[in-house]
Amino acid sequence: MNRKILLQEQDIPKQWYNIAADLPTPLLPPVGPDGKPITADMLAPVFPMNIIEQEVSTQRWIDIPAEILDMLYRWRPSPLRRALDLEKHLKTPAQIYFKDESVSPPGSHKPNTAVAQAWYNKQFGIKRLTTETGAGQWGSALAFACKLVGLECKIYMVRISFDQKPFRKLMMQVWGGNCVGSPSTETQAGRNILAQFPDTPGSLGIAISEAIEAAVTDPTGKTRYSLGSVLNHVLLHQTIIGLEAKAQLKSVGVKTPDVVIGCAGGGSNFAGIAFPFTQDKINGAKIDIIPVEPTACPKMTRGKFAYDHGDVACMTPLLAMHTLGHAFIPAPIHAGGLRYHGMAPLVCQCIVEGLHKPQAIDQVECYEAAMLWAKTEGFICAPETSHAIACTIREAKKAKEEGKEKVILFNYSGHGLMDLSGYDAFLTGKLKPYYLPDEEILKAEECLKNYPKAPARKTGKW
Ligand SMILES: Cc1ncc(COP(=O)(O)O)c(C=O)c1O
Repeated sequence: MNRKILLQEQDIPKQWYNIAADLPTPLLPPVGPDGKPITADMLAPVFPMNIIEQEVSTQRWIDIPAEILDMLYRWRPSPLRRALDLEKHLKTPAQIYFKDESVSPPGSHKPNTAVAQAWYNKQFGIKRLTTETGAGQWGSALAFACKLVGLECKIYMVRISFDQKPFRKLMMQVWGGNCVGSPSTETQAGRNILAQFPDTPGSLGIAISEAIEAAVTDPTGKTRYSLGSVLNHVLLHQTIIGLEAKAQLKSVGVKTPDVVIGCAGGGSNFAGIAFPFTQDKINGAKIDIIPVEPTACPKMTRGKFAYDHGDVACMTPLLAMHTLGHAFIPAPIHAGGLRYHGMAPLVCQCIVEGLHKPQAIDQVECYEAAMLWAKTEGFICAPETSHAIACTIREAKKAKEEGKEKVILFNYSGHGLMDLSGYDAFLTGKLKPYYLPDEEILKAEECLKNYPKAPARKTGKW
């Protein structure tokens, strides 16, 4: 039995999969505060037109340009691994496979879209990209990609992670990125938040506001904003993960897995592994597909499906998504990349349809899972990834109770070698379970009440 299932370079997928072509009910369009759909021209100060075209495309397969493939070959195709020792430890009849996205130079799935976005911006004549980062994985991925294609990169890093994870900031600097803690005094959005909440731990929503402001106010017009998750084109670029995994599973005789799992912050690594299998599910395959979120930030399991902004300063269009409200500032849990109030509209549409069934797991259960993972498989996972592992362990135990030889596939979205402070908190007994009280959810949702309502959507047959 092989622990590693590898593809040759020439077997890399040459097209991304666009689930918008197959959704049983089409996505609701992004709208302005007046409820009118946003046009491509309105997005032009923020994104280059070649990216906007991908964002609105409903073409099922989109060719990956050769120059992007050449950058991806640095770490792709990534290995699919079998977690034999975890299986043995759990005495489960389930087979556990994981797609190892930690092998990229910055250590996560994020470069899959970073190199694509940097390349499209460069093609469009852009000189500089701005972005936000939570845990620092996205910021380091974009700094890396900008270095490869020759763009400047400015990163607004959520304050709590900026303080907890100094080495990520150094990685960004090594790749030539300029990283500041967010909220910062460099933007109006940052200054406004600091005036109101001087000790705020920051949030992805605030950092996004800063990065968009920095892009649209650049007088040269040569700066654009780049987002590491949530949007359709980002999820599209990540589908290379699931497409490779499909080919790898096929090579060991697995047509479709029974369970597919990914942690979900804005939804990109989850969608990357899940969407190609969601297509199979739409076409009749029986697969449980589970996005996993922290109980500290439970937008999919307890948030509203509503129109909301992607950022705190309300600079983005309104997106129909599961949200806790853009003003929500999640507790400073160590899984910084999962501290986001909303979820990718494409994933939300799949949840509404019943194609994806989200779960929320507490950080203590996640760190217990991460520790067991390190003791059995040896790898030290990112705090975000521990949510997928905790869910995998739940599912493997369920398979044991049911006596079923299920195939479980999860996305190993990143390593935790730059995130050891969370392990320190766990090992010294400082980490506590955190469940968001109902009153806080109700309070956070207040900011949604004057927005256009997302029409009720019908649930599919799944
Ligand atoms: C390792 C890792 N996994 C998961 C995530 C969550 O992001 P997304 O939901 O876009 O995959 C992040 C975000 O920073 C991350 O760094």
